[in-house]
Amino acid sequence: MRMIKWQNGTVLTPDQTKLPLQEVTLEIKTLEQMCEAIKVLRVRGAPLLGAAAAFGLAIVAYHSQAKSREELLAELEEAAVAIKRQRPTAVNLFWAADRVLAKARGFSGVAEELKTAVVEEAQKIADEDAAQNHAIGKNGAVLIKDGDTILTHCNAGELATVEFGTALAPIRVAWEQGKKIKVIADETRPLLQGARLTAYELMRDGIPVTLITDNMAAHIMSKELVNLVIVGADRIVQDVVFNKIGTYGVAILAKEHGVPFYVAAPKSTFDLSHKAADVIVEERKPEEVTHIGGVQTAPTGVKVFNPAFDATPLKYVSGIICESQIYYPKDFPKFKSGATP
Ligand code: MRU
Repeated sequence: MRMIKWQNGTVLTPDQTKLPLQEVTLEIKTLEQMCEAIKVLRVRGAPLLGAAAAFGLAIVAYHSQAKSREELLAELEEAAVAIKRQRPTAVNLFWAADRVLAKARGFSGVAEELKTAVVEEAQKIADEDAAQNHAIGKNGAVLIKDGDTILTHCNAGELATVEFGTALAPIRVAWEQGKKIKVIADETRPLLQGARLTAYELMRDGIPVTLITDNMAAHIMSKELVNLVIVGADRIVQDVVFNKIGTYGVAILAKEHGVPFYVAAPKSTFDLSHKAADVIVEERKPEEVTHIGGVQTAPTGVKVFNPAFDATPLKYVSGIICESQIYYPKDFPKFKSGATP
């Protein structure tokens, strides 16, 4: 199922802040609405953020009154700056905005033709993401055996992508292949993407899922109740994988307990020209920690630290499942060259 759709100048996508209790479709018609949706995580997950950035520029182009190609290009450049300001860590947001801009800059037609080209490029980004996720599913399913229990963190499912998911894609394919598998979903504080979104979409699709709080993962691994971990990624650089806060802890636990730890992500999430130290880890507002579901749970005025992502060193990663292949530790040193081997 498509998580983001273009309909004559309007972008349709589920409001993920309302799930699982309400299924509300957002109708995004302006750049401001798209920026707000990205900022507050109505639209979220690295690959879906890429498509959202591209469609945000498509909205600007489609509704533009610009009379010349140059005028429209200037509007797109300004809009891309606004979109990129919303969240700093997931590289797909930057990658997709830059890809649409590059298309626009290199386009020689008149303004009306450029508008069409921008919309088409955004749609292409979305279509490619969907296809890549199905390929990730196929590539990763070979790692999953009948009877496996797979732990995942955050939501790297359909809701985080244009279609099918990344970490959940191999799980979906294995399930379709008839393997009797189970998923354990970390609830993923503070914003509960595991509880609200991963549990929701797996239950909807009939894939057995058990929800745990984040602090239960060590216990569950020590009891040998997990055979495999698969998580998504927000940015893969030369030396680490950035993903939702808590992923690093899960990776250490997996290593300690001899459980393979895999990352599933499309090539659009690779940013091999950078290292861990170059990346800004998003820090979000204190209320996400002091409150749960809008109810205050911590003393008023307590000091809070709320980083949204952490960096897992590649030494903890058993493999990275992408659309073309699985990269194994023997391939990781080659990431330093700046391109996927
Ligand atoms: O803050 P979020 O919900 O956008 O973070 C999402 C994650 O960390 C996902 O694991 C990651 O984007 C991979 S999604 C296929």
